[in-house]
Amino acid sequence: MFLEEMDVKRQYINQALKKHMIPEKSYPQIIHQAMHYAVFNGGKRLRPVMVLEGANLAGRAGEDVLPTACAIEMIHSYSLAHDDLPAMDNDDLRRGKPTCHKVYGEANAILAGDALLTGAFELLAQNAGIHGITEGQVLQVIQKVAAAVGSRGMIGGQVLDLASEGKSIDLEALNTLHHLKTGELFKVSLQAGALLGGMDPRGLEALIEYGRYFGLAFQIQDDILDVSGNEEITGKPIGSDAKNLKTTYVTLMGAAEAGKVARACVDRCLGALSGFDSRADFLRRMAAFIIDRDR
Ligand code: IPE
Ligand code: IPE
Ligand code: MG
Ligand code: MG
Ligand code: MG
Repeated sequence: MFLEEMDVKRQYINQALKKHMIPEKSYPQIIHQAMHYAVFNGGKRLRPVMVLEGANLAGRAGEDVLPTACAIEMIHSYSLAHDDLPAMDNDDLRRGKPTCHKVYGEANAILAGDALLTGAFELLAQNAGIHGITEGQVLQVIQKVAAAVGSRGMIGGQVLDLASEGKSIDLEALNTLHHLKTGELFKVSLQAGALLGGMDPRGLEALIEYGRYFGLAFQIQDDILDVSGNEEITGKPIGSDAKNLKTTYVTLMGAAEAGKVARACVDRCLGALSGFDSRADFLRRMAAFIIDRDR
């Protein structure tokens, strides 16, 4: 049931992305083609769905925050195109297709990422004025998103990830790395939707806690799938972490123990939602799904 519901939401996000992104045929065509290639593939769209859920929980229609949801998926897609580059994880397969640099070349993949990131901020700004969403609220979201994906957020995490290749790092360092490279974007996705919906500070705190543990559980499962997943289902190469000598939850404690930690994180997610009524049920199902997923 969760998967069907998620599928409907995913299609809704895909339609919005088509509407909000600069058209593929725009001049210069090559860059817009590369941007569309990086975005329109088998992405699960978890982060934009979280933006909509955050807004819903605060009592606002998801439709009102679609520009923000699309912006966040553009940032995520840029991070993947760059993550796959030869200078980073050097992977050839993403979302079941050759990676962006394999099709468009390294320079265009770098530039497509840059343009997706920049374009995302243009789109975030465009959320002001929709059904009473204020410029002040949007400004707050812009600040939070910039911080979450910047050098003390997602990029910081990617730097730590690369710096720890071939080295043994302890669990605390790995948690920090996972939290930054993956957790921050999930956290800010929910927060952005909730802020635009006018959520009270206590509710926001609870959602931040949920996002933090969701991100960790999600990345632990990503590490597990990198070892024991099926390439045809995940759409990305199995064994990428081992190839790059990364420390992961699996190398530190084995898949079985890692699975237990991920389950404990899901419990923390559910605990964080205890103050919300049935409107948070989709987020509850999402947390449970994240460690059962095979892609
Ligand atoms: C993959 O994220 C990158 C990580 C943060 C581990 P997803 O598994 O959400 O990727 P898509 O968007 O569905 O392709
Ligand atoms: C990527 O982590 C995180 C970001 C893109 C910020 P991974 O390198 O583990 O992601 P996959 O496994 O390639 O999707
Ligand atoms: Mg990586
Ligand atoms: Mg990678
Ligand atoms: Mg991975």
